[in-house]
Amino acid sequence: MDLSGKVAVVTGAGRGLGRAYAEALGAAGAAVVVNDVDAAAASEVAEAVVAAGGKAVVEAGAVGGSEVAQRLVDTAVKVFGRLDVMVTNAGILRDRVLWKMSDEDFDAVVEVHLRGTFTCARAAAVRMREQGEGGRLILISSPAGQRGNFGQTNYAAAKAGIVAMARTWALELARANITVNAVVPVAATEMTKTIPVFAPILEEAERTGDPLPDWVRKDEGLGTVEDVAGLIVYLASDASAGVTGQAVGIGGDKLTLWSHPQEKAVAITDGGWPADAIAAYWDGGAGFEPETYGIPAPKGA
Ligand SMILES: NC(=O)c1ccc[n+]([C@@H]2O[C@H](COP(=O)([O-])OP(=O)(O)OC[C@H]3O[C@@H](n4cnc5c(N)ncnc54)[C@H](O)[C@@H]3O)[C@@H](O)[C@H]2O)c1
Repeated sequence: MDLSGKVAVVTGAGRGLGRAYAEALGAAGAAVVVNDVDAAAASEVAEAVVAAGGKAVVEAGAVGGSEVAQRLVDTAVKVFGRLDVMVTNAGILRDRVLWKMSDEDFDAVVEVHLRGTFTCARAAAVRMREQGEGGRLILISSPAGQRGNFGQTNYAAAKAGIVAMARTWALELARANITVNAVVPVAATEMTKTIPVFAPILEEAERTGDPLPDWVRKDEGLGTVEDVAGLIVYLASDASAGVTGQAVGIGGDKLTLWSHPQEKAVAITDGGWPADAIAAYWDGGAGFEPETYGIPAPKGA
């Protein structure tokens, strides 16, 4: 996959998945603006991209507000002359059950994930529309946003909102040939190490140097950060020109297309639905096969 001549921004690229995205985009020939709130980590990644024969520059800062978003786009244009790809990856967790979640926990997560995706994508869209040559917005979501997850009110809400923004922007930016997709990754990182069910498996693999068990890679779709990076390169490339408005899952050996929510059971009655009519209908009607919710517990654990 050849991305020569393209310029990409990756937010939160100082470690984990973002680092793998920056390195893979750089290896495929794209020039990369490496962002992270941790400037030293971002510098290390930019150096690694350059050492591998790629082009990269650092633009450190905390993604969230529009000032940093604009700086990322301006740096791409100033240093490399243009912007083709924006990958909004920066993220944090502040997990608490609802009744213990503080306003600060909620706001911090929404600020980085939801507002950060909005401000970075908006700044990128303005520049890409000016260039008039299309572009790629690659937004990072999560299984938690698709299904809900225990302890993740803030994160699930932000990640669901990101998919909703991808679908909205796919409509709005179609005429400008800017594709917008959400990626739903799973990978072993500092973030996943905090998930109780995966922690012992990941620690064991790290300790022994053994690959993750096959059921983890296939059933859970959990593997390395490098396993996810191929999708980012594909979505950044000309090969994905017709792909937009999608939520694409990837991890380990698994690649998936997430369904869009749609009406599943439909009942029509003349004059509408008073409460007692719904009560009489529900159990044998729309409620007969309710939807599941929450990320299913791993089967092999
Ligand atoms: N690891 C997974 O399995 C998984 C699953 C679903 C979604 N994701 C998403 O993928 C992304 C990357 O996750 P990860 O597992 O690599 O996490 P990570 O914690 O290893 O890395 C996140 C990076 O983002 C940086 N960062 C945090 N706040 C920032 C800010 N305001 N501005 C700029 N940089 C900031 C951190 O310094 C860090 O380098 C996140 O959006 C995460 O929600 C990860």
